[in-house]
Amino acid sequence: MTGRKIQIFDTTLRDGEQVPGCKLNTPEKVEIAKNLERLGVDVIEAGFPISSPGDFNSVMEIAKAVTEPIVCGLSRAVPKDIETAAEALKFAKRPRIHTGIGTSDSHIKYKFNATREEIIERAMAAVKYAKSFVEDVEFYAEDAGRTDNEFLARVCEAAIKAGATVLNIPDTTGYCLPHEYGEKIKFLKENVKGIDKAILSTHCHNDLGLATANSIAGVLNGAGQIECTINGIGERAGNTSLEEVVMIMRQHPYLNLYTGVNTPMLYPISQLVSERMQMFVQPNKAIVGSNAFAHSSGIHQDGMIKNRETYEIIDPKDVGVDESLIVLTARSGRAALAYRAQNIGYSLSKEELDIVYAHFLKIADRKKEVHDIDIHELMKIVNISIA
Ligand code: KIV
Ligand code: ZN
Repeated sequence: MTGRKIQIFDTTLRDGEQVPGCKLNTPEKVEIAKNLERLGVDVIEAGFPISSPGDFNSVMEIAKAVTEPIVCGLSRAVPKDIETAAEALKFAKRPRIHTGIGTSDSHIKYKFNATREEIIERAMAAVKYAKSFVEDVEFYAEDAGRTDNEFLARVCEAAIKAGATVLNIPDTTGYCLPHEYGEKIKFLKENVKGIDKAILSTHCHNDLGLATANSIAGVLNGAGQIECTINGIGERAGNTSLEEVVMIMRQHPYLNLYTGVNTPMLYPISQLVSERMQMFVQPNKAIVGSNAFAHSSGIHQDGMIKNRETYEIIDPKDVGVDESLIVLTARSGRAALAYRAQNIGYSLSKEELDIVYAHFLKIADRKKEVHDIDIHELMKIVNISIA
């Protein structure tokens, strides 16, 4: 691999698990964490230990179960949260405390009834306190997406001074446009004193469907870590989707960015998370949706049968999907029907294909999808048997 390595910080078990109805128990979380380790993520955010005894226990068990990735626990900028995160992480080989505070004017006014100066003081105190427990402290500036850049730079500078090793710049409400988010990261890279001692991290939400685009804009402008979840699950419209950002960097090598992710595990882990969280993956979801490698219109099917590259930019095997699908519908042409019939043993002459195709269209107009069993029935009607 050449270029700049982008750290993948997976927050499926923390921000992802905040989705209503997706609650997991400790063994399920440990199972997912072990799979994330095999996937090759750099950081696993295992939970928010102060939030419940169950979450505390899960963070502790994950910290014992994985050895390669950094295990991270979330805390607010509150001493009790930080102490509890440190306690939950005490068995971690590579522990990280992720602490922070809201920095936008609306958070400062409505959540904290405080002043900007007070927020900087609280941020510094939290980082210093976390640093008394672990070496690796990540600071988040909640709602950084709507925080004025000059003030954000001051907060980041203070966090670095207090010992933060990673600065998380969340677009908490998913409001930023890609060029704005990219400029924010660039501004911080250029204006925060001591920034070369820390890694800037993206953490984007998907309220306007821009989480992936914003995260990529972030790394193109100097961020070194992306926070994301499997299947893009998370609060409201979700978080940045891990499989999307990883595959964007992989499929565009000229960007000179790479990750340590073992991409053939993307589909299996997507299925695992979907099943354990009982959260189904939308069929047209990029990379891991059931239609991501399915071709149903005649023109596309014809191209695919001639050469896969005509309509696919990713080899399905590279993300753990066995093969592309040629789905037979009323929009399919003769080439697709002949191809599918051949796959199940029927070798059709041109004349036979014309006859079968006329019958096929009648069935296809009645049904949404024509399956192999329907093709066998069709062949019986026209008296053709397996060659
Ligand atoms: O979206 C957000 O701001 C967060 C922080 C708590 C990191 O999830
Ligand atoms: Zn978040």
